[in-house]
Amino acid sequence: MAKTLKAGRQSIQKAAAVIKRGGVVAFPTETVYGLGADGLNPEACARIFEIKGRPRFDPLILHECSPARARRLFSRIPAAAEKLMAKFWPGPLTLVLPKARAVPDIVTAGLKTVAVRVPANRHALALIKAAGRPVAAPSANRFGRLSPTTAAHVRKQLGAGPDLILDGGRTAIGVESTIITFSGGRPVLLRPGGLPLEEIERAAGVPAGRAARAKAPLAPGCLKKHYAPRVRLEIVEPGAPVRPSARAAYLAFSRRPRGAWAAVKVLSRSGDLREAAANLFRALHLLENSGAGLIYAERVPPHGLGRAIMDRLKRASAR
Ligand code: TXA
Ligand code: MG
Repeated sequence: MAKTLKAGRQSIQKAAAVIKRGGVVAFPTETVYGLGADGLNPEACARIFEIKGRPRFDPLILHECSPARARRLFSRIPAAAEKLMAKFWPGPLTLVLPKARAVPDIVTAGLKTVAVRVPANRHALALIKAAGRPVAAPSANRFGRLSPTTAAHVRKQLGAGPDLILDGGRTAIGVESTIITFSGGRPVLLRPGGLPLEEIERAAGVPAGRAARAKAPLAPGCLKKHYAPRVRLEIVEPGAPVRPSARAAYLAFSRRPRGAWAAVKVLSRSGDLREAAANLFRALHLLENSGAGLIYAERVPPHGLGRAIMDRLKRASAR
């Protein structure tokens, strides 16, 4: 089992040393835990794919500790992207743009674009800074499974995989970053996430364009089945009558359902979508371990962070 250290000055120095020598460290970000390695070292990045059981065609995100360093990873930056970087970095926004030459092919899965973000988490920023290089990191879960929002989630899925796990407590946002690319000067949404699309459109001053339908999966965000609990999940309308069952679990948005269930989780008693997103994966981890054979998950309002929540629930329910 990998050693888990509480994130702090010393443990972060240790973790940075592991990354510098080509090792793999699980670390907290503001969205979910990442499985990080030296983003300029192809062999180190290859280990990420092995540990996750992730197909090589699925590219990684590079994490930097400042917008100035992040922009060096791109070869071209449109004006609309400048606006978003200035306004939202550090934060849960990943930008996909033409890559700089230094970015290895294994990171981009051979694409000419690279995904980059500056996370808004002090431990993550300190780690990247101490490592002195971009840190490539997907979410620290087995491929296709639930994303981790605590160090315990990482241990459970990847246990012996990473060389070190940094424990920075629960992640604040709880769903992955919003991924944006650009087309004709407009932002285009590739994956809804922790930064609401409405805020991005407001900052860009134009409505988002639509993603062109690609033949190859551009993002596993684009794979239909993803973010899946091991137990079957079915989306239901809030308040719609589903017969309570001691063999099923229920994930409610804001109101506890009636009746006897194997387990119940309420995402936000006040109906707050931010709070609901922050609790989403933790609730799903708990419900998948409740012994229930089926999870009912209520639909949430499809705006703000609700868009990211519904995206994850739909993929979790895909069969
Ligand atoms: O919040 C997050 O984004 C977390 C934390 C750890 O930063 N990371 C994360 O990484 O969610 P991952 O690998 O689980 O998801 C990254 C997504 C994938 O769907 C990948 O296909 C997509 O980003 N991606 C990476 N590079 C891309 C590119 N050049 N073009 C399109 N999509 C890309
Ligand atoms: Mg992931």
